[in-house]
Amino acid sequence: MSAPLLEVSGLTMRFGGLVAVDTLDLTADRGRITAVIGPNGAGKTTVFNCLTGFYRPTAGRLLLRHPGKGEVELQALPGYAVARYGVVRTFQNIRLFPRMTVLENLLVAQHTELMRKSAFSIAGLLGLKGWRDAQATALDRARFWIERLDLTRVADEEAGNLSYGVQRRVEIARAMNTNPLLLCLDEPAAGLNPRETAALGELLQGIRAEFGIGILLIEHDMSLVMGISDRIHVVDHGKKIAEGTPAEIRADERVIKAYLGEPDEAEVPPEVAQDMPELEGPRA
Ligand SMILES: Nc1ncnc2c1ncn2[C@@H]1O[C@H](COP(=O)(O)OP(=O)(O)O)[C@@H](O)[C@H]1O
Ligand SMILES: [Mg+2]
Repeated sequence: MSAPLLEVSGLTMRFGGLVAVDTLDLTADRGRITAVIGPNGAGKTTVFNCLTGFYRPTAGRLLLRHPGKGEVELQALPGYAVARYGVVRTFQNIRLFPRMTVLENLLVAQHTELMRKSAFSIAGLLGLKGWRDAQATALDRARFWIERLDLTRVADEEAGNLSYGVQRRVEIARAMNTNPLLLCLDEPAAGLNPRETAALGELLQGIRAEFGIGILLIEHDMSLVMGISDRIHVVDHGKKIAEGTPAEIRADERVIKAYLGEPDEAEVPPEVAQDMPELEGPRA
């Protein structure tokens, strides 16, 4: 087994007195789906915000092994540079450009790469073959992902007019069309119906198999997490409380407790109750 694509060690993020992420260790591999689960407020989104350059961590090391650029310490990069190394994300609350079409949303995500190919000059834009090639490649790639995510019919529609489930697919297409090494998905099944969630699971498995990228998945839908993850990390109050395969996590006492609390204060999220019958134990 080669060294992990991503190695997070000792990640800590404080907001004033609150320690949202507390000395967390985490790895993600190529060709694997690594899930991060945990109750609301556990610190999951904050981990993504640190990884993708939205927050500078209070402490810790975020090591990415880039095939071309070697070992890159993400926490030391300026935030905007992280995507350049192939770390891309989707958001818990969809963030597309609502007044742009689906195709435009995908192309704009490739904007930085296109501009670099032009050397940020008008001569580059107009004359150089490199730019024209890059532009053609960008369009091809956008087309590929539009088809792959079954968005051809809505490619020219404004993203903001599409249904929630379709917007979720656009987000994934937009992320994938930048050619990521590590795709970070923050609750991609939120708001999807069971049929859409099942389709999302198949899509992610297809991407894993075909492109061999690393996928980091934050998700509350246990049917999805248990169905497609290779490894699961469970976080509570910013700390990792368990790590293992889906089968190991289902059976883990600490996980059951973190999700259910003490029996009399338990408030089981419906999807957990429904999809993780084992976790219903303490309430029965
Ligand atoms: N920018 C911020 N400023 C202050 N507190 C924050 C900020 N972002 C997150 N938090 C807090 O950090 C904790 C973890 O939040 P979050 O990472 O969003 O949890 P999760 O995604 O697991 O639900 C919560 O208590 C949240 O209120
Ligand atoms: Mg969150």
